[in-house]
Amino acid sequence: MVKMETADLETDLSLFKYGNLEQLPPQYHNLETDERTVRIETALEELGDDVVILGHNYQRREIVEHADYIGDSYQLSVQAAETDASYVIFGGVTFMAESADIITDDDQQVILPSMEASCPMAGMAEALQVDAAWAEITAAAPDANIIPITYMNSYADLKAFCASQGGLVCTSSNAHRAFEWAFERGDKVLFLPDKHLGENTAYRLGMEDSLAEWDPWDPEGKDAEEVAEADIILWDGYCQVHERFRVEHIETVRAEHDDAKVIVHPECRREVVEAADEAGSTAEICRTIEEADPGDTWAIGTEIHLTRHLERWHPEVNVLPLCGDACMDCNAMRQIDPNYLTWVLEELVEGREHNVIQVAPEEKELAAVALERMLEV
Ligand code: 13P
Ligand code: SF4
Repeated sequence: MVKMETADLETDLSLFKYGNLEQLPPQYHNLETDERTVRIETALEELGDDVVILGHNYQRREIVEHADYIGDSYQLSVQAAETDASYVIFGGVTFMAESADIITDDDQQVILPSMEASCPMAGMAEALQVDAAWAEITAAAPDANIIPITYMNSYADLKAFCASQGGLVCTSSNAHRAFEWAFERGDKVLFLPDKHLGENTAYRLGMEDSLAEWDPWDPEGKDAEEVAEADIILWDGYCQVHERFRVEHIETVRAEHDDAKVIVHPECRREVVEAADEAGSTAEICRTIEEADPGDTWAIGTEIHLTRHLERWHPEVNVLPLCGDACMDCNAMRQIDPNYLTWVLEELVEGREHNVIQVAPEEKELAAVALERMLEV
């Protein structure tokens, strides 16, 4: 474990922290779909109220079909905070399961069925790397009160770091409120790790005139003096699923469908959000389609599983993927395989726990502060 320079925390590279996570046993590799569904349902019946399954909107159909709650990152953290179940099975990625572990009581266990489900964007801002950047940026602006805000898509040690420096967590549905919270208490924001969500939020608040980017991989993109002059400093991270969308995709959809409206996730590039009719979190995208009139056409710029769910859930609306077959699935989200779900559930029936996510206690306490601040904004 390495000690941070500016915060009273020890950390490890986030992806390697959970050495307890196990691969799928061979007998679960080739289950037939029908048999698997029956086995999942049987296990769930036996486990009853002891288990709750939370499914992110980007999960595969075979996972959301078994979920007790489906939602965006914010809604799932609220559900995790409210549930009494002894086991929370998280259909999502590592940072979501970590947040659920932080928010739930100590006698509740959070299980992430597959150890491979790690969001690449969360890995673009390692806490140690941010700690080093923080030392440089704060030294370049000694009179400024800089508040760090980390997007939910980050590991627990970074959330803890933000809390230790007076900051908080946000999701795509409350980033604007987190910025307002920060500017009531300080005069600059360091936003991590998604530069697009940060930039889109700055525009939403009319604060786009004072933005700078911090590129941790490029020595020339790390001029602390220059960067520290801006009110909002954006860490150079991004989601490859959402960076794929381009303004041309919107133009093509509008050329092919006169009446088409476009909604995109705020992890998309600034120019794409600007060209779209609406932008919002995955829950806001769901709400927009739920409230659409029959026969309306909506093109959706986000992860493809959600677009496919919305096509199924709302056959009365003409739902289109914004870039057609080129729309991507999230490779991290799809790692939560129904075979893994069958395995962890059947093992729980036998009284054996696997792939439990346990955030280190010192990180947990501080990260909880950052998450609670978010739940209050
Ligand atoms: P939401 O908070 O909108 O569900 O988004 C999470 C995410 O990972 C988007 O890529
Ligand atoms: Fe991470 Fe992008 Fe996947 Fe969301 S869609 S979990 S940001 S890689």
